[in-house]
Amino acid sequence: MSHADDHAGTRRDFLYYATGAAGLVATGAAVWPLVNQMNPSADVQALASIDVDVAGVEPGTQLTVKWLGKPVFIRRRTEEEITAAREVDISALPDPNAENANIEAGSPATDDNRVLAGFNDDDSAPASGEWLVMIGVCTHLGCVPLGDAGDFGGWFCPCHGSHYDTAGRIRRGPAPRNLPVPLAEFTSESNIRLG
Ligand code: FES
Repeated sequence: MSHADDHAGTRRDFLYYATGAAGLVATGAAVWPLVNQMNPSADVQALASIDVDVAGVEPGTQLTVKWLGKPVFIRRRTEEEITAAREVDISALPDPNAENANIEAGSPATDDNRVLAGFNDDDSAPASGEWLVMIGVCTHLGCVPLGDAGDFGGWFCPCHGSHYDTAGRIRRGPAPRNLPVPLAEFTSESNIRLG
């Protein structure tokens, strides 16, 4: 199945590019293999930081930006999504690793280890859990999962049926790892810096 052929025409309908200031809410995602974009060259890596305005992202919606040739999902989660993610028994997860570039490698895949602390979050307390930032590339073979989908209310990759939960952790299907969390931080109440 050639996903590129099937979906290239709809790409512009869901993928918004970070241009520095503008932040637009994406309403969906689609199947988009990234085989040729998975390994950015060293000079691209050197230009690795972008700022994303998330002021317009409402709870329960997701912004998708392109960064280093890959989609990045920036989701503002609802209370229900946060609660569902925190009720999961992490000992039962296929990938017990947080897969979060912002914390120590090998940290457990608790919800708190997956989320991005808000600008006003107290460092000494768990993050509010509202913000989840992830590379939107399925860890199986590189399709872009669909948001608000799947058996766990998170993301679903239709290429071969991988289900991710509301913390972006793989729960069912062939994908071996959780969706990775890239280097990210809030630099103001409404700005997230990637990289
Ligand atoms: S690429 Fe996502 S399930 Fe295979």
